[in-house]
Amino acid sequence: MSLNKRPDDMERIVTRQLAEAFIAEQVDEVRRTVKDKKVLLALSGGVDSSVVAALLIKAIGKQLVCVHVNHGLMRKGESEQVIEVFREGMDANLVYVDATDRYLEKLDGISSPEEKRKIIGGEFIRIFEEEARKLDGIEFLAQGTIYPDILESDGVKAHHNVGGLPEDLQFELVEPLKLLYKDEVREVGRALGLPSSMVDRQPFPGPGLGVRCLGAIKRDRLEALREADAILREEFDKSGLANTVWQYFIAIPDVKSVGVRDGKRYEGWPAIIRAVNTTDAMTATIEEIPYPLLHHITARITSEVEGINRVLYDLTPKPVGTIEWE
Ligand code: XMP
Repeated sequence: MSLNKRPDDMERIVTRQLAEAFIAEQVDEVRRTVKDKKVLLALSGGVDSSVVAALLIKAIGKQLVCVHVNHGLMRKGESEQVIEVFREGMDANLVYVDATDRYLEKLDGISSPEEKRKIIGGEFIRIFEEEARKLDGIEFLAQGTIYPDILESDGVKAHHNVGGLPEDLQFELVEPLKLLYKDEVREVGRALGLPSSMVDRQPFPGPGLGVRCLGAIKRDRLEALREADAILREEFDKSGLANTVWQYFIAIPDVKSVGVRDGKRYEGWPAIIRAVNTTDAMTATIEEIPYPLLHHITARITSEVEGINRVLYDLTPKPVGTIEWE
């Protein structure tokens, strides 16, 4: 498993059949490597960690211990889906840690984006370490490293991977997807029976809604963000845009303005819609959402979400705006 360069003659996995062949090969290799030992995996519910989980469950069943840390910055229904798909659907050995309070206490009053990221990443390592120490006989750590992560090894996903664990908790790595491109990972995920809502989903940053609840995170604004984002996703699903737009989400700044609701003054936050298309996330263009849909989304968010009184659409391409607001 030490090969870090994709062989020139490695066939691109573009069909179910090729995905199944890859799975069979990896199942064998994982069984040979792991034998009767246990493997630990941080399962965020993102595409890569989910596909690794499904693959390892197929290979070694309950010798895989998945740890899902809910940092309280997940999108609506995400942690629930992880539990449903893996614990209920695949009978996985899944440790679920609800660390919402712990994260929100640590993040209380912190408005600097870098500091927020540091806290979110650092806390993840501490929680993962605590959970790892409770378990006996773990010799391997599985990671959802994929080929682009290796090509850009200082890439955005760095904190996702469990680098930074203390010396006495160093495990041998199991990285079955490390030579695959993203589209191949999705193909493999489908062949393993993962739902499309998990395999085909848009990118979501490790620090989650933490980078979209701008400034110091407060529970009420975070909750408003989660609800507004769920409405946006629902409407994009219904209209078919979810299949074509690369990434779409809501950000909420720490700003209130005056509005009016039910004949009374109603101070609220603006929900900012971002919907972008890109191939590599280095540059991005803006999706032209049809106006009637924008009006509909605006009406839903302002009437259904407590605390929001305006909806804005961000028309800024990257550059000059980054994709996330932070
Ligand atoms: P920006 O905002 O830099 O984002 O234009 C480019 C892409 O990277 C995603 N992103 C992250 N992904 N961990 C991740 O896994 C992160 O910390 C992170 N920050 C940004 C962002 O969502 C966009 O797709």
